[in-house]
Amino acid sequence: MNPFYKRSLISIADLSKEDILFLLDSVDRLEKEPFSLSDKIIASCFFEPSTRTRLSFESAALRLEGKVIGFADGKSSSLSKGESLYDTMKVIGALADVIILRHPKDGAARIATLATKTPIINAGDGGNQHPTQTLQDLYTMRHCQGRLEGLSVAFVGDLKYGRTVHSLALACALFDMRLYFVCPEALFLPEEISRNLRKLGVRFAFYPSIEEILGKVDILYMTRIQKERLPELLYEEVKDKFLLKASMLRHAKTTMKIFHPLPRVHEIEPAIDETPFAHYFEQAGQGLRMRKTLLQLILTPSLAHV
Ligand code: CP
Repeated sequence: MNPFYKRSLISIADLSKEDILFLLDSVDRLEKEPFSLSDKIIASCFFEPSTRTRLSFESAALRLEGKVIGFADGKSSSLSKGESLYDTMKVIGALADVIILRHPKDGAARIATLATKTPIINAGDGGNQHPTQTLQDLYTMRHCQGRLEGLSVAFVGDLKYGRTVHSLALACALFDMRLYFVCPEALFLPEEISRNLRKLGVRFAFYPSIEEILGKVDILYMTRIQKERLPELLYEEVKDKFLLKASMLRHAKTTMKIFHPLPRVHEIEPAIDETPFAHYFEQAGQGLRMRKTLLQLILTPSLAHV
């Protein structure tokens, strides 16, 4: 039974392991025989900058013949005149069949669901969650490692504000993965996420350097320090602390893959792009296929009961 039909996707924690596997298994099937969205309107509402998420959603909608409305900058919406997010979402909900929402405030996507019955897809809310990035990450992990169960994954960088880390760490818990966290002291994982991981019985620990964990992991998930969410002094102090250099990779497993949700700023030496470890551009490339699948599952009546 399709668990996504007419449903919002706000947090990865709203999905069960079966829901996630249903979506991952649907990607190849729907790639071969896609359903047209020619009678659907997709609202793409981005109140915060984006390249990959916005354009891959819009490309997915257009490739499925859907119509796209929306904005890439909240300043061009009436929010800049003082309208509330609630009112804005209520109006757009009456105009579109699904709303893709990115917003700088934690919890904005959940608020949007109170305003409209139209499904909301959280395309990143502040430092909170980014569930569609997680689905793309899991799809890519399974594709390159041949499995999800029991993988060892290290998260490096800004674990406090990195919404992709929060979503993905919770999803990894469903697949019995072992997690390694490497970050500056000031950017530890939020207590709420650590508490949830402990509750779920996940094996995890914090480490002060990449070198300590490099030989142990299947996926090295690098992240950007979130300059826009940090005090300037703290940003200057931590921004170059966890640069991955090509010379460090001699300690890695030969099958290890480097992920990064992108954009990359200081975290990965460009020389690494040409090594077999680099997998971040392949990871970005899977976003289109996964988002096409998600839009079809949410919007297609004939997929409601598959
Ligand atoms: N990974 C990701 O969310 O990238 P964008 O900010 O470019 O959408």
